[in-house]
Amino acid sequence: MDRIRIIGGQSLKGSLPISGAKNAALPLMIASILTRETLTLHNVPRLSDVRLLMRILGNHGVDAAISGKRLGQSEESGETITLSARDIVDTTAPYELVSRMRASFWVIAPMLARMGEARVSLPGGCAIGTRPVDLLLMALEKLGAEIEIDAGYVVAKAPKGLKGSTIDFPKVTVGGTHVALMAASLADGTTIIKNAAQEPEVTDLAECLIKMGARIEGAGTSQIVIDGVARLDGAHHTVLPDRIETGTYAMAVAMTGGNVLLENARPDLLQSALDVLAQSGTTITPEANGIRIMRNGGDIQPVDVTTAPFPGFPTDLQAQFMALMTRANGSSTIHETIFENRFMHVQELARLGAQIRLDGDVAHVQGKSRLKGAPVMATDLRASVSLVIAALAAEGTTLVNRVYHLDRGFEALEKKLGRCGAAIERLSGEG
Ligand code: EPZ
Repeated sequence: MDRIRIIGGQSLKGSLPISGAKNAALPLMIASILTRETLTLHNVPRLSDVRLLMRILGNHGVDAAISGKRLGQSEESGETITLSARDIVDTTAPYELVSRMRASFWVIAPMLARMGEARVSLPGGCAIGTRPVDLLLMALEKLGAEIEIDAGYVVAKAPKGLKGSTIDFPKVTVGGTHVALMAASLADGTTIIKNAAQEPEVTDLAECLIKMGARIEGAGTSQIVIDGVARLDGAHHTVLPDRIETGTYAMAVAMTGGNVLLENARPDLLQSALDVLAQSGTTITPEANGIRIMRNGGDIQPVDVTTAPFPGFPTDLQAQFMALMTRANGSSTIHETIFENRFMHVQELARLGAQIRLDGDVAHVQGKSRLKGAPVMATDLRASVSLVIAALAAEGTTLVNRVYHLDRGFEALEKKLGRCGAAIERLSGEG
């Protein structure tokens, strides 16, 4: 198994490219099931989750292909993937695949909408909490689906098609909103989604569906209205830049000090996280082709944060921010409100010397810890990358194990940080 070795203490300087967003690419790929025509996605990140979803979709009969390199395209440009679901040959998504990637559960919506049936394994729990799918099923039931649980599988049926309705989510759910959008696009009549997730990835999916012929208004607000259509067509769509990757590298620069241009990054996608970073003493300057992040010499100031749905501070940046706060000039509190168990990184950060006390869903971080390199591992990708950030500021060598977590969500992490001066290296096949 690969490991990543980091020798801490180098400040980051230069520029690095931000890839297309994983959490937009996945639902966009799944939306290909809605049409017999070809959906072409540009700026798709090179990630193991994308490869796995191609396999999962292939199992349903979707032809997925990565286009060859084009003139002017560099190793850093995202990939173009074409997805063609001419004939759906299998409406079952088996446990072996769904349990490896939760987002693949979302195939239930386009499959049901187009084929009138779907049999999808329940994903089970995961490292960041129980993560139920009750609200996704509630949305499909509102649209007229009959749902049964059979031997660990959700069996959803709508032999006469789905019918538009009002879906009022009691809690903001990104996956629930994706599922409702996809299903309602092919339903008969009008659907209103209330308390919809406003995450940029939801807006990106809606924009792609609109290009495919869907009639959607209000994406990016808490109320989305969809007028169902009888069929959708193919389209070309470019995946938006990854706001979590952007925030992660911004925090890495805040941690080590330095000056880095995050190319292609868009400040509007993560304003709350950038505001918090600015309060911590980091200078953030939007430029024509990205965001420049600088911290020169001064102390890192402690800032309290509470995670919240968009436009609040994202849960997917909580672990990275906690790593930064271990070096702040004072103590801070971090309140996790989205997932009940997303503090698995705390014990590993402690191995590097961090002083963090957990009190339910609040972490109290004592600042100015002297971090020292150590072997570490983590249980999910954001936790893993928080260890990378801590390691960049730690004295000596850190070995990050279970690199496959990083490969799920961060394209070419060691290359991107390496070209900005980090002493980081992938050790292949060891450990
Ligand atoms: C998406 O997960 C992201 N995944 C997550 O990113 C992200 O952390 C999360 O949204 C929140 O922003 C992808 O986009 C692939 P939710 P999702 O439904 O859709 C509860 C990463 O690291 N809930 O918005 O699964 C749920 O338990 C990943 O890239 C129910 O109770 O999250 C959670 O507490 C991790 N019932 C809250 O809602 C349901 O039926 C929000 O979850 C559904 C969700």
